Amino acid sequence: MRGASRAVRREGKRLALVPTMGALHEGHLSLVRAARAACDVVAASIFVNPTQFGPNEDLAKYPRSFERDCEMLEREGVEFVFAPSVEEMYPAGAVTWVTVEELSGKLDGGSRPGHFRGVTTVVAKLFHIVEPDKAFFGQKDAAQVAIIRRMVRDLNLAVEIVVCPIVREADGLAMSSRNAYLGPEERKRALVLHRALVRVQRMVEAGERDVGPLSAAGIYEFARESSVRLDYFEIVNPDTLDPVEDVSRGALVAVAAYVGATRLIDNILLGPAKSDNHEGH
Ligand code: PAJ
Repeated sequence: MRGASRAVRREGKRLALVPTMGALHEGHLSLVRAARAACDVVAASIFVNPTQFGPNEDLAKYPRSFERDCEMLEREGVEFVFAPSVEEMYPAGAVTWVTVEELSGKLDGGSRPGHFRGVTTVVAKLFHIVEPDKAFFGQKDAAQVAIIRRMVRDLNLAVEIVVCPIVREADGLAMSSRNAYLGPEERKRALVLHRALVRVQRMVEAGERDVGPLSAAGIYEFARESSVRLDYFEIVNPDTLDPVEDVSRGALVAVAAYVGATRLIDNILLGPAKSDNHEGH
């Protein structure tokens, strides 16, 4: 992979990397298309990274569809698929980790200890192997974005991080490889994540800035859908992932919940409020 990517860059071409765990859907493909538009050559990685799964999580049953993934990537004109084995990525005796302190314990890191250490370690390895000019990530995993951006800054990594918007199903459910776990009833109940976020967004559009009523309203949507177990509903600074008290300067509204045994996440990014001091009239 490194030989191929260096050959590309020697020709003066710009190389994009789209890291994935496979089981590809339109969300992944939106990253590929953004990469295609921004760079000359696109590499996608497919690696179900064991170190980012907790001992009681879904590593063994995580959906795998390698042949179909390759066909989809080929149709998008992706030049390289990097799909290493677990033994290649983590040879016996590998004991070195990349950890973004503090941020890694927030949001999903609070309920999935060690998850982000696994993510940052594998993403740092992918960056070193592929040496891309730009790497593409989805806003769907908002905490992952904040943590990877911080890692790139803190370690002076020579890669530009590009973040793409969340791709949703027609009814609002954020696309996820894990949606495949949902039965038909659960699929309907899963809409509560998006419903709660939309409710908060509407309140902000109507002028509410205070996090108290905003998160109360979001959490209330979950109280009405008792079969879905809320993990967290937080309104935070999108860079530090620390709670904010009001959303005037923009905020990330992030949610995680269990629909049956399936853990789903979703979020919306609120922009800074328009200045209300009527300047310039
Ligand atoms: P995975 O869940 O396969 O997601 C790969 C990329 O696709 C991530 O950047 C994710 O945010 C993006 N993505 C997933 N669903 C999306 C959607 N509905 N809209 C937009 N983008 C979406 O995230 C990972 O894999 C792993 O943690 C990884 C970064 C590959 C490291 O192992």
